[in-house]
Amino acid sequence: MVTEDFKRILVTAALPYANGPVHIGHMAGVYLPADIYVRYQRARKRDVKFVCGSDEHGVPITIRAMKEGISPQQVVDKYHTLIKESFEQMQISFDIYSRTSNQVHHQTAAAFFTTLYDKGLFEEKETEQFYDEKAKTFLADRYITGTCPVCANPNAYGDQCERCGSSLSPEQLIDPKSTLSDAIPVRRKTKHWYFPLQHYEPFLKQWILEGHKDWKNNVYGQCKSWLDNGLQPRAMTRDSNWGVSVPLPQAAGKVLYVWFDAPIGYISATKELTDKWADYWCSKDTKLVHFIGKDNIVFHCIIFPAMLKAHGDFILPDNVPANEFLNIEGEKVSTSRNWAVWVHEYLKDFPGCEDVLRYVLCANAPETKDNDFTWKDFQDRNNSELVSIFGNFVNRAMVLMHKLCNGKVPPLHAGILDDQDRTMMSEFEHCKNRVEELLEQYKFRDALFEIIDLARKGNRYLQEKEPWKKASAAAGQPISPENQQSIDNCLHICLQLTANLAILIHPFLPGTSRKILHMLKVVDKMLDWENAGKSKLLSVGYSLRAPELLFRKMEDAEIQQQIEKLKNNMIHPQDMAASGQPAPETQAPAPMVTKATIQFDDFAKLDLRVATITAAEKVEKADKLLKLEVDLGFEKRIIVSGIALHFQPADIVGKQVVVVANLAPRKMRGIESNGMILMAEDQAGRLHFVSPGTIIDAGSTVN
Ligand code: MF3
Ligand code: ZN
Repeated sequence: MVTEDFKRILVTAALPYANGPVHIGHMAGVYLPADIYVRYQRARKRDVKFVCGSDEHGVPITIRAMKEGISPQQVVDKYHTLIKESFEQMQISFDIYSRTSNQVHHQTAAAFFTTLYDKGLFEEKETEQFYDEKAKTFLADRYITGTCPVCANPNAYGDQCERCGSSLSPEQLIDPKSTLSDAIPVRRKTKHWYFPLQHYEPFLKQWILEGHKDWKNNVYGQCKSWLDNGLQPRAMTRDSNWGVSVPLPQAAGKVLYVWFDAPIGYISATKELTDKWADYWCSKDTKLVHFIGKDNIVFHCIIFPAMLKAHGDFILPDNVPANEFLNIEGEKVSTSRNWAVWVHEYLKDFPGCEDVLRYVLCANAPETKDNDFTWKDFQDRNNSELVSIFGNFVNRAMVLMHKLCNGKVPPLHAGILDDQDRTMMSEFEHCKNRVEELLEQYKFRDALFEIIDLARKGNRYLQEKEPWKKASAAAGQPISPENQQSIDNCLHICLQLTANLAILIHPFLPGTSRKILHMLKVVDKMLDWENAGKSKLLSVGYSLRAPELLFRKMEDAEIQQQIEKLKNNMIHPQDMAASGQPAPETQAPAPMVTKATIQFDDFAKLDLRVATITAAEKVEKADKLLKLEVDLGFEKRIIVSGIALHFQPADIVGKQVVVVANLAPRKMRGIESNGMILMAEDQAGRLHFVSPGTIIDAGSTVN
């Protein structure tokens, strides 16, 4: 038994931006694990509060408003409602789902700023920023568009080109324009308040690098790399009229930086929830846990804690169990390309199946690395785990009890218990202890697998005991007392196991747990965690309801439909550019920086030629290498290329490619390679040949 040095737990889940609906990646990464953790803690009777809300400020929201031709308030009203509903339907059990556009939050965030200001902590700095003289407003980089200097996309943003992925600054754009008015942006001086993060470096190093080696590797690693690189002052105010106004007389037209105000939203939401909010935020015996996605790590582990420390009244997080990203069908989620599975759409397409999604997302949660969601895997897990293992066990136990034990919980005859019975019963507590241990360590997938494994053991136990055989042996005659006793014991144990499954699975699949409670005719009280592991949850002679199926099979057709829906609704990058309206991205592609500048002479040294692949074969014991024979017109040669994971040899014979023809020879796996094939790699890491548009003479030069 671990002794606990906390009296209450405050759990926060990242405030989603109210500029679009939530997708299953959000669910798997943040809200589902947070909900499982909280439900488990509640079942343990711990004093726990679970807060969240919509993040309603910041540039993405103002951009979305512009795009849709409505006000920012209308945008956040629309998405706040949609997001809140999705969470409710997914049974995410927040104690409060608030929003940062409300009064309490504006006051709380402004007061926080004032406290730091009064302590003299901010550095005031004047810098030059772009200004739109027509719209009379400063422009965030995203508000400036122009032609990309790298790929000539006419709709590149001031911070990034979405066609080629280059990260840009507004100065690099050719013909820059303000998206608000078409005016050419001019530079103008503006003053902002900077938070001197660098002063908190020693404290953060001590607190995280020394004090929190217990944090997940991905979290600790990111923190370490930020701290190793050194921290910089960060502007905590912006020129905008959407957000929390900076509470200073000389700051008209300025608002708090969204990443300053949003995390304070956790405090505001707690204030709204309870008068005792200070117990949760200001008392050392509260355990504060932030559930977030990996793109939020620096804000929750470095910037917000430094702010809290500077303020002085608040506790710091005990843990920040951030998850990595969930890809869809092998590709990164992209909201602008609509490559995502939206929760509200899933709920429409699969009514009553929220537990199935909860199950699959927890089983595939990107806990230690990016993970993949595929519809096929969704179907497999549903059919072979939920239906065939968990649902099947509960159903068999209920059906057999009705058939062989008159619909009542049969007695347990202690005298004839055998090893199998005793082993089965000892698994209850063993499983409970494992689940508990894993949940306390934020290992949700493993905890879930323990429970499925318990159900699997239940199936095996039933299979070995075969109570139906003992009944049928009596064919037409009454079952012998001896056989009946053995049947009783088996079903008694299976029903107690069913009750245990209801308690253990409750944090993960609350709806399923409720269905079991209904069949067993027991009240919610049974779900108290302390009841898990016990083998006397249901009393003997108690009559139970008829079984109802917990899960249904997912058919090929409906799965195929989802795959097609995903593919059909995807917006191709070329269409985005053609529409002249590149959608703003919330999750940007990997930034691309070019290599150091070279002179023309350097380029002219390269001899690039068109060649035809005439033969291709795998290189033995090197799974990445292909040995290619290419025809350069004037000669044939061998090139060894690391593309075997991407292409089948038979598929590429006859293809035209561009090769670096004057590269010094190199030996690979004993084969001399004479040149190199040019390849383009896309965002998803797939390779594509660089080849002339039409078939031309081998040996043609490329300049
Ligand atoms: N809105 C941010 C995002 O979706 C998360 C904000 S979390 C908070 O990435 F701490 F700032 F609230
Ligand atoms: Zn570009």
